[in-house]
Amino acid sequence: MTQSHKITLNLEDFAPQIPVGSAILEEAKTALHSLKNRTCKGSEWTGWLDWPHKFGMSLNAEIKHWMQNLSVSYDTIIAIGIGGSYLGAKAVYDLMVGPFGPTNGLKNLYFAGQNMSESALSELIENLNHLQRKPLIVAISKTGTTTEPGVAFRVLREWCESKFCKAECAQRIIAITDPKKGALRQLALQNGYKTFEVPSDVGGRYSVFTAVGQVPLMLAGLDVKSFLDGADQVFAGLMGRDSAPSLDPFILQYAAARTAAWRAGKRMEVVTYPEPKMRNFVEWFKQLYGESDGKEHRGLFPGSLECTMDLHSMGQYLQEGARTMIETFIVADNPRTPGMSGRVKVPAMGNNLDELQYLEGKGVDDINHMALLATRKAHASGLVPVIEMRLGALDLPHIGALMAALQVSCPVGGILLGINPFDQPGVEAYKVKMFELLGKPKS
Ligand code: PA5
Repeated sequence: MTQSHKITLNLEDFAPQIPVGSAILEEAKTALHSLKNRTCKGSEWTGWLDWPHKFGMSLNAEIKHWMQNLSVSYDTIIAIGIGGSYLGAKAVYDLMVGPFGPTNGLKNLYFAGQNMSESALSELIENLNHLQRKPLIVAISKTGTTTEPGVAFRVLREWCESKFCKAECAQRIIAITDPKKGALRQLALQNGYKTFEVPSDVGGRYSVFTAVGQVPLMLAGLDVKSFLDGADQVFAGLMGRDSAPSLDPFILQYAAARTAAWRAGKRMEVVTYPEPKMRNFVEWFKQLYGESDGKEHRGLFPGSLECTMDLHSMGQYLQEGARTMIETFIVADNPRTPGMSGRVKVPAMGNNLDELQYLEGKGVDDINHMALLATRKAHASGLVPVIEMRLGALDLPHIGALMAALQVSCPVGGILLGINPFDQPGVEAYKVKMFELLGKPKS
């Protein structure tokens, strides 16, 4: 198997403050072993391991075939979902279109149902009406009973039925949900919507390679196969399949470093990134780690810092606030959005009024690169242990590989923390109170 990605982990600004020795790496190896042979806590939720190879590629072909036979045309996709039913697709889409929407042949992919904002919903409807959009509506909910996407789906279904006849709505609405149970499956059956499955042994935050990520991203025009290929290479290395090169050292060292930080009294991990289009990738990261680790009063709180924007707000805290954090930089050698490769250089202005003459002719990327290096060194000298993750490029194979590697590394760290990395019992607490306040009848 030829490797289509280059991903490295650098602990040179971490280990001098928090050593990551052979003992903790051995612990991480044992934890990884228990994940792979499915003896860890929550092992009934590890269906995502090696999923691209076992099911993902054939699902990809099935979705392609279904798309070729779609009987309606569309210019927009509205993916409805929250948490793990939303963040993976949002992360990947944003990385591939950049911050200003698609100009590279991709379709508009809107997201709804990840909040209870009436203004967000009404502005979405206004946008659809004003631009005379012809959308496909993809409702994604594993349980099929989550309130936020449920409300958004009702509103968008009503809108759809006001614009298109019932038969056309049945073509425009797609449901991705539990294979057998739940309200969304029943609704889809009643109305003849096309359905795809969220596998019952895969939790939301581990589901980006399933239909949950694949369907909206493929409908938007992305080459999801190369995203799956990147992930598959990581899983192949992990499972010792197809003589694939292994990313296990990355997986183990990162889990061991985070665990060592927790044991050394650190309580927060700030993920620092240099490109605005990475914002939702880091939101995906925050959900993966926050929801997996944050149990039994344990786990690093995942936060984020967008460079260089947040250096003018949170930079002060990072440099001189409470020393309870570690920082993880995620950077790419080539951060360009594939298909958009223009360079921007600082132009000559014939004077030095803005004192920027020394930057004339430099690419903005080169300045960003130096700004990031300077930030990393400044924070490390301010006693923040710093990890650097480096990708060869921000393209689909690299993103797929990094998401797969983090999906494995995260539960390895969770096992070392002693918690079940695959459940999320705490998410129920706000729902119980909200249902009480809204007067939901008890079933
Ligand atoms: O990671 C998870 O399991 C959660 O974030 C869920 O994805 C989220 O709560 C949405 O649940 P559902 O897909 O059932 O609507």
